[in-house]
Amino acid sequence: MDRNFSLELVRVTEAAALAAARWLGRGKKDEVDEAATQGMRDMFNTIHMKGTVVIGEGEMDEAPMLYIGEQLGTGDGPEVDIAVDPLEGTNIVAAGTWNALATIAIAERGNLLHAPDMYMEKIAVGPEAAGKIDINAPVIENLSAVAKAKHKNIEDLVVAILNRERHEKMIQEIRDAGARVKLIQDGDVAAAINTAFEKTGVDILLGSGGAPEGVLAATALKSLGGDFQGKLLPQTEEEWIRLGKMGIRDVNRVLMLEDIVKGEDAFFVATGVTDGELLKGVQYNGGFATTHSVVMRSKTGTVRFIEGQHSLKK
Ligand code: FBP
Repeated sequence: MDRNFSLELVRVTEAAALAAARWLGRGKKDEVDEAATQGMRDMFNTIHMKGTVVIGEGEMDEAPMLYIGEQLGTGDGPEVDIAVDPLEGTNIVAAGTWNALATIAIAERGNLLHAPDMYMEKIAVGPEAAGKIDINAPVIENLSAVAKAKHKNIEDLVVAILNRERHEKMIQEIRDAGARVKLIQDGDVAAAINTAFEKTGVDILLGSGGAPEGVLAATALKSLGGDFQGKLLPQTEEEWIRLGKMGIRDVNRVLMLEDIVKGEDAFFVATGVTDGELLKGVQYNGGFATTHSVVMRSKTGTVRFIEGQHSLKK
C-alpha cells in the first residue's frame, strides 16, 4: 500500500467526525450515526483503491451504508480490506460526553479478521507490556505482569473497563488486587489505544465489548507496538452459527494480535468527535472547524497526530 494512503484516509475520518459532531449532546443517536456514515462513505469513494468493507455497519440485506461486502474507492488502486466504525460511541455523542471517535482500519486484502457483530473478551496493553499478557490468566496475574513491565506497583495501575453489569466480578477482582479503575460508559477502542500513551494515564483495558471494535483497536496496537488478545463470545444460536461459518470451531480459541491483523502493513486512523484523553473533539470557531486525528501504519510504526482546520464556507 502506498504510504500516502495515510493522508488520504485521514480525510475519511475527518469527514465523518465533522458530520457527527454537529449532533453533540442533542440526544439523537440515529441522526448522529447516519451523519457520520454518510460523511465517511462519500469521502471513501474519492480514494484510489479497490476496497471491500469487512467490518461495517451491518449486513447487505439490511441495506445500510457501509455494509459488509460493500465496495469502496475508485476501483483502480490496491485491493484492501476495510474495517469502519464511522461513529465509535453513538451514545457518547448523543450525550456529549467523552471519547467518541470516527475510525477506520485498512489492511491488504484478506488480512483483517472478519469479526462478526458479537461480544469479544479483550485485553489490551501498550508497548512496554507487549508479550506479557494472557487473556486466560487470572486478573491479578495480568495486573502483576503489566505492573512489572511498566516498573510500577499494581496500586499505580489504571485499568479501563466498560461499566457493565457483566463486568461486576471482574471489577471486584481488579479492586481486590489494589489497582485503580476507570469505568467507561462506552468507547473501548479509545480506551485500548490509550494504553499505548503514557499521558492518557490508562495502563490496561480489560473486559468484553464489540468484536468489530476489537479489530480496530488491534490494528492500532499493532502499529503502536502494543498487544491485544481477544476471545469471541457468542450468546445466541445465530452467533454460534456465524462463528462456525468463519471456521472457528473452538470458542475458547484465543485470537492473538497476528490472528486479528495479519501481514505487516495496515493503517489505523481516528478523528476525535468528542474530547478524549488522546484526541480532542471537533471544535467550531465561526467559519472554521478544527479536527484532531491520529494516523498510524504498522509497517513503519509511524504515528502522526494531525490537526485540521476546515473552512466551513468552502
Ligand atoms: P457504538 O460504536 O456502537 O456506539 O459502540 C460503543 C461501545 O461502547 C463500544 O466501544 C463497545 O465495544 C461496545 O459499545 C460495548 O457494547 P455494550 O454497550 O453492548 O456493552
